[in-house]
Amino acid sequence: MKKGKVDALLGIVFGDEGKGKVVDVFTPEYDVVARFAGGPNAGHTIIFEGKKFVLRSIPSGIFAKDKVNIIGNGCVIAPDLFMAEAKELEAAGYDLKGRLHISKRAHLILPTHRVLDRAYEAAKGKAKVGTTGKGIGPTYSDKAARIGLRVGDILDRFEEKYAALKARHKQILKDLHYTDYDITDEEKLWLEGVEYLRGFHLTDTEIEINRYLKEGKNVLAEGAQGTMLDIDHGTYPFVSSSNTTSGGVCTGLGVGPTDIREVFGIFKAYSTRVGSGPFPVELFDETGDTLREVGHEYGAVTGRNRRCGWVDLVALKYAIMINGVTQLIMMKSDVMNDFETIRVATAYEIGGRTTSEFPYEITGDLRPVYTEFEGWKCDLRRYGSYEEFPEAFKRYVEFIERQTGVPVKIISVGPDRGETIVR
Ligand code: GDP
Ligand code: IMO
Ligand code: MG
Repeated sequence: MKKGKVDALLGIVFGDEGKGKVVDVFTPEYDVVARFAGGPNAGHTIIFEGKKFVLRSIPSGIFAKDKVNIIGNGCVIAPDLFMAEAKELEAAGYDLKGRLHISKRAHLILPTHRVLDRAYEAAKGKAKVGTTGKGIGPTYSDKAARIGLRVGDILDRFEEKYAALKARHKQILKDLHYTDYDITDEEKLWLEGVEYLRGFHLTDTEIEINRYLKEGKNVLAEGAQGTMLDIDHGTYPFVSSSNTTSGGVCTGLGVGPTDIREVFGIFKAYSTRVGSGPFPVELFDETGDTLREVGHEYGAVTGRNRRCGWVDLVALKYAIMINGVTQLIMMKSDVMNDFETIRVATAYEIGGRTTSEFPYEITGDLRPVYTEFEGWKCDLRRYGSYEEFPEAFKRYVEFIERQTGVPVKIISVGPDRGETIVR
């Protein structure tokens, strides 16, 4: 039998590209959907049949009832938030037991990790990362420091291990003079979450996934965050704490690079960023406000305003290179339906020099060089195929394809499952 393959769907900008929607659309073509990195810092929105769900830790393939969904070893999981998310899905009629499998190697986010997240941010003052406050950084730090708790730990002498790590965190908080916190209620819910988690299939998901592949089944790896938030390749230190890129698929699921077939790179027809850090194409004018309002660019997790700007081809090409992107997916094209003109950054001018290479550091003297396009000024939702799209829109899409050398295979023109054009 022919071996199955892993396709990866990765956000290639600053997250919130629309990964949830496209994973949901793609799921019927796969046997398994797996998350490989991140945790409840993610907020993936799925809209269909007038219903809306925002998933945090659970893969977006969960709405197809005959598919297996996996939370892989590269993820971090907060039992209390997981319980809330899972119960919401169960209440909506999606039974998870038996088809949501969780890696015993995934790390646990403790209530004190969240306090540490706040304490580190407070200590950074103006240089804060603007994290989601979900304890992501401290949890991955403990993983790297080899002191973290894993999902598998809840199966053996858990109370003891939990008490030891909590005590360690409390000592750090004391040393930081960060003592004004109370986790009593949160901890109670968290421990309930731990009990709830025990009812799930906690397993060696890397062995399971490799077995599926051997059986000829195909896996869709669902990215979280985006390339520019990758711990190695993003705009460090304004990044998240995991590898959100294609390398993270291998380590975060336990599959080899030769098992990966397609790498779908997803981006919006404009750009957004939430949290601090450099964003050269950011718009501080009315156009930026229009993108935010029309695109509803407010964080799915924190409700914060998303910063808005034009597409940045320098960053996009860098992300395509890092991930080995084979196909592009362009989202939210409809948000710019009424725009007279649209711009795209094709290079950076740094200290009088023009470059199209993504620099080590983005500093204040960097200026994007733009190419301008005429807007299409019509509702893209009217069209049922790529061929029917107005010429002005096709010029925009085809310019991005020429510049990146990668085909744009899917165009999304609305948040609903159905508002998706496949070429
Ligand atoms: P993710 O984190 O990458 O899954 O993306 P988010 O769910 O955080 O943000 C994407 C937002 O855009 C969600 O509110 C989606 O419902 C919405 N969305 C997705 N695709 C489209 C589209 O083509 N057009 C419009 N207008 N909204 C979209
Ligand atoms: P999805 O999967 C957008 C950002 C935070 C912050 C930085 C670090 O929905 O695309 P963290 O809490 O991870 O330590 O925060 O990363 N960030 C995201 N931005 N979408 C996300 O996820 C994000 N997850 C984290 O805003 O700037
Ligand atoms: Mg999101």
